Amino acid sequence: MSQKTYKALRVEETGDNQFTRKITDLSFDDLPEGDVIVKVDYSSLNYKDALSATGNRGVTRKYPHTPGIDAAGVVEESKSDAFKPGEEVIVTSYDLGMNTSGGFGQYIRVPADWVVRLPENLTLRESMIYGTAGFTAALSVYRLVDYGITPEMGDVLVSGATGGVGSIAVSILSKIGYSVVAVNGVVDEADYLKEIGAQSVISIEEATDQSSRPLLKVRWAGSIDTLGGDILSTSIRSTAPGGAVTSCGNVAAPDLPLTVFPFILRGVSLIGIDSQNCPMPMRQKAWDKIASEWKIPWLDRLTSETSLRELDSKIELMLQGKHKGRMIVHLWD
Ligand SMILES: NC(=O)c1ccc[n+]([C@@H]2O[C@H](COP(=O)([O-])OP(=O)(O)OC[C@H]3O[C@@H](n4cnc5c(N)ncnc54)[C@H](OP(=O)(O)O)[C@@H]3O)[C@@H](O)[C@H]2O)c1
Repeated sequence: MSQKTYKALRVEETGDNQFTRKITDLSFDDLPEGDVIVKVDYSSLNYKDALSATGNRGVTRKYPHTPGIDAAGVVEESKSDAFKPGEEVIVTSYDLGMNTSGGFGQYIRVPADWVVRLPENLTLRESMIYGTAGFTAALSVYRLVDYGITPEMGDVLVSGATGGVGSIAVSILSKIGYSVVAVNGVVDEADYLKEIGAQSVISIEEATDQSSRPLLKVRWAGSIDTLGGDILSTSIRSTAPGGAVTSCGNVAAPDLPLTVFPFILRGVSLIGIDSQNCPMPMRQKAWDKIASEWKIPWLDRLTSETSLRELDSKIELMLQGKHKGRMIVHLWD
């Protein structure tokens, strides 16, 4: 069994901080230690994968490396009693695709406690349409709902709305009855955003106030932010008393120019979202929601599919912000 070979998109350092990506034949001996080997049917492309694929040491320290923070497939071998060969499973986040060979390879080997059983009512392909981005969107929605933000309280803002996290957040919120205002900046996709559930679409300029005013006119009951920087600061300063804002990303900027006044004069809460270290009980809860009452009827509208062979060019598009929705990767074409 250890001689079995498979294909993977391998990132190699060619010297002086230069990196190449190519499809490489690997064997099971190249897989890291772990309890469960999964034959990967589908992976997906996330912003973090694009960073790992271009040599970003904040994501991946050592090369050669196989990126891919998401994988869904069938258990091939298991040393754990919790999983049997033939079972359909999802593996997202933890260290997968960061410093552990990831889902851009046809096989992965991981610790059993990273593995989630595929929920009923979800296919492997659908699970990767969600992937880490969709899971993060679901966690963000979960935290707003759990906090007590209801559809009757007013509009919810979603930034980076055409992206992976944003488009799933827009879709889930709309599916469960919220009025969503989407921020769309890079490529004009207002029609697409309305098709996937946005009530209205605003530009980055309309969503950004660069003044130093500590509080702005109230506009939102809550927000799901993927961008950070001035846009996150503006949404916090524009949130209604008692409202809440989730922060999961830093596509625009990692800083947050702000005073404490939204928190102490309006009782606004800022909720951090970390999908990577989300504990397993919460992880399972979010996947169960994704597969049941939050399941998006228009999933295919959000999705494009690529193969391992074509993945390289899609990584470039993602780095330029020129993609929309979710890109899933079929490993066996
Ligand atoms: N905390 C966590 O657990 C977690 C998990 C997953 C992802 N993330 C983070 O969440 C963020 C979004 O991830 P993603 O997978 O949705 O990324 P993505 O698919 O690349 O989407 C990002 C979106 O942001 C907008 N955008 C791109 N460049 C921009 C810029 N310079 N200024 C303003 N807007 C810009 C674009 O949407 P528009 O054209 O519509 O504006 C783009 O579609 C990333 O920072 C990622 O690392 C965090």
